[in-house]
Amino acid sequence: MTNRLLLNKGDVLSMMLKNDKIKIGRNDPCPCGSGKKYKRCCLNAKNPKPVNLEKLYQQKYDIRLKHPKDVEGIRTAGRLVIETLDLMEENIKEGITTDELNTIAHEFAIKNNAIPAPLNYRGFPKSICTSVNEVICHGIPENRALKDGDIINVDITHIYGGYYADASKMYFVGTPGPEAKKIVSVAAESLKAAMKMLVPGNTIGDIGWAIQKYAEGEKCSIVREFVGHGVGFDFHEAPHVPHYGKKGDGIVLIPGMVITVEPMINLGKADLFVADDNWTAITCDRKLSAQFEQTYLITEDGFESLTPYDL
Ligand code: MF3
Ligand code: CO
Ligand code: CO
Repeated sequence: MTNRLLLNKGDVLSMMLKNDKIKIGRNDPCPCGSGKKYKRCCLNAKNPKPVNLEKLYQQKYDIRLKHPKDVEGIRTAGRLVIETLDLMEENIKEGITTDELNTIAHEFAIKNNAIPAPLNYRGFPKSICTSVNEVICHGIPENRALKDGDIINVDITHIYGGYYADASKMYFVGTPGPEAKKIVSVAAESLKAAMKMLVPGNTIGDIGWAIQKYAEGEKCSIVREFVGHGVGFDFHEAPHVPHYGKKGDGIVLIPGMVITVEPMINLGKADLFVADDNWTAITCDRKLSAQFEQTYLITEDGFESLTPYDL
C-alpha cells in the first residue's frame, strides 16, 4: 500500500490519503480512472494524472456516485415515499389490517406514477413491509388486525422515473406501554446518532460505531444480519452500511454517495430467525424490535436526507 498520488489541494481525497483513510494497493485500479492497475499507470509515473473519484469508487468499491440530476430524481421519489408514510400515519389505528395498509400504500404509489419496489422483488409478495412488535423487518402485510399497544414499522421504497428512495418509520397503535416507548425512542435516537457521522471524510465504520455506542449504552442490541445500503439507481447497491463498527473503519464517505441508514434495535437479544415465509425476521426471544430508515445524500459539507421526516 502506498500514498503516492498527485492531488489538488482541498480535494477530499487528499485529506483521505493524508489521514491514511484510503489506501491504494499496487494492484488496485489506478485512481486516475484509466482502468489499468495502479502499478502499471500512475504509481511510478513522472506526471501522474489527477484522481477521478467517481471512477475510483466505481472500480474499487462498485459504488455509483450520483450526479445532480440523479439526486433530483431520488429526491422526487423520496417525497412520494414520505407522503406514503404520512398516509400510513393517518390510517394506523386499532382494527386496521396490515394488508389494508398495503393496499392504501400501493394505490397511492400507482396513482402518483410510482412503482412499489418490494412487489415481486426476489419473490416478495406485497408492496410494503409491515413489521409488528417482535418482527424486526420484512414483515409481509397480511389479514391481521393491529391492536392497542402494538408498535409497527412500515418500510416503503418507491421507484419514480427510474430512481429508488427507501425509508421507514415506527408508529404506535393506541397507547404504548413503557417497553414500546423505550425501544422506539432508542431506535430513533440511534438514527440521529448516525446522522451526526454523515460528513465527507468520515467512514462507513463511523456510522456503525455511533449507533453501537448509543444503542448498546441503552442496553439494547443491534441486528447484524441486515444492513443499510447504497440506493438510487437500484434497490440495493454497494456499499453495505452495518449498524455496528469501529471508528475509522471502512470506506470513506464522499459527496455524491447516496446510502440508507436503517438500524434495527432489539429490546432483548440480537438473535433472530426467519419465518417459513422466507421473509419475516423475528427476534428469538420474542421481545420488541424497532427501526427507522432514511435515504441520505453525502454533500460537500455534510448530508441531505432525500426522505426527510422529523425523528
Ligand atoms: N426496504 C427494505 C430495505 O430497507 C428492503 C425490503 S426488501 C422486500 O432495504 F422485498 F422485503 F421488500
Ligand atoms: Co433499505
Ligand atoms: Co427500507
